[in-house]
Amino acid sequence: MTVSPLPYPLRLAGTGVVLREWRGEDLDDLVALLDEPDIARWTLMPSPFDVEAGLAYLRRAHQGRIGGSRIQLAITADGGRPLGEVLLFNVSSELHEAELGYLVGRPFRRRGLATAALSLLTGYAFDTLRLRRLLLRIDRGNSASTSVARRCGYRPAAEPPIQQDGPYGPATLDTWEYVESRSDPQDDRRKNVAARRYGRR
Ligand SMILES: CC(C)(COP(=O)(O)OP(=O)(O)OC[C@H]1O[C@@H](n2cnc3c(N)ncnc32)[C@H](O)[C@@H]1OP(=O)(O)O)[C@@H](O)C(=O)NCCC(=O)NCCS
Repeated sequence: MTVSPLPYPLRLAGTGVVLREWRGEDLDDLVALLDEPDIARWTLMPSPFDVEAGLAYLRRAHQGRIGGSRIQLAITADGGRPLGEVLLFNVSSELHEAELGYLVGRPFRRRGLATAALSLLTGYAFDTLRLRRLLLRIDRGNSASTSVARRCGYRPAAEPPIQQDGPYGPATLDTWEYVESRSDPQDDRRKNVAARRYGRR
């Protein structure tokens, strides 16, 4: 059965990555991560993302966590400084589905962090929360994000594109899905993806 409300607090450790709850003292790091053109371009974050936006963001994250409606974790290397964020939200207990999202701060990109974080939370959502279909909504121009999705075993879903108006004009979001593989229930591909990524460095 799908877990409801979602577990809190949560700490997930994988190969080269630790996902942990946001803390009040992360405010300056959060603002530095999110006040950045690529985040503004590909997500619906306020821009500029200032201290006030950061405080509101941490407050909403905390409410969502204690209310059990979402998982929203800082991506770290070792439980310390936040380098990005990964989320799970819009949980449908009836359909056993949820949506995920991720971002990584500019200085920390191309190190496999988004891939490691998404594969770790995907595994948790499947193995512990017993969700059976996980979704990403990705702007079709966001090649970095589609690469991460593909690496983690997500595939384009047969769903109509979502048109969205953002600060950069109209955007088209495609849905990507991760579904249980009947031939490979443990899904070694997902479990090994982070290890392979780090092993290559
Ligand atoms: C998308 C994002 C999270 C990727 O984070 P990341 O930690 O750099 O991703 P990874 O290091 O795991 O990248 C895995 C692979 O994706 C591809 N990739 C990542 N960034 C890329 C880029 N800018 N251009 C092309 N390919 C890219 C590469 O194939 C990469 O592997 P490689 O470095 O071995 O070539 C990050 O660029 C980001 O935060 N962007 C802004 C926010 C955003 O778009 N979030 C997703 C919304 S749907």
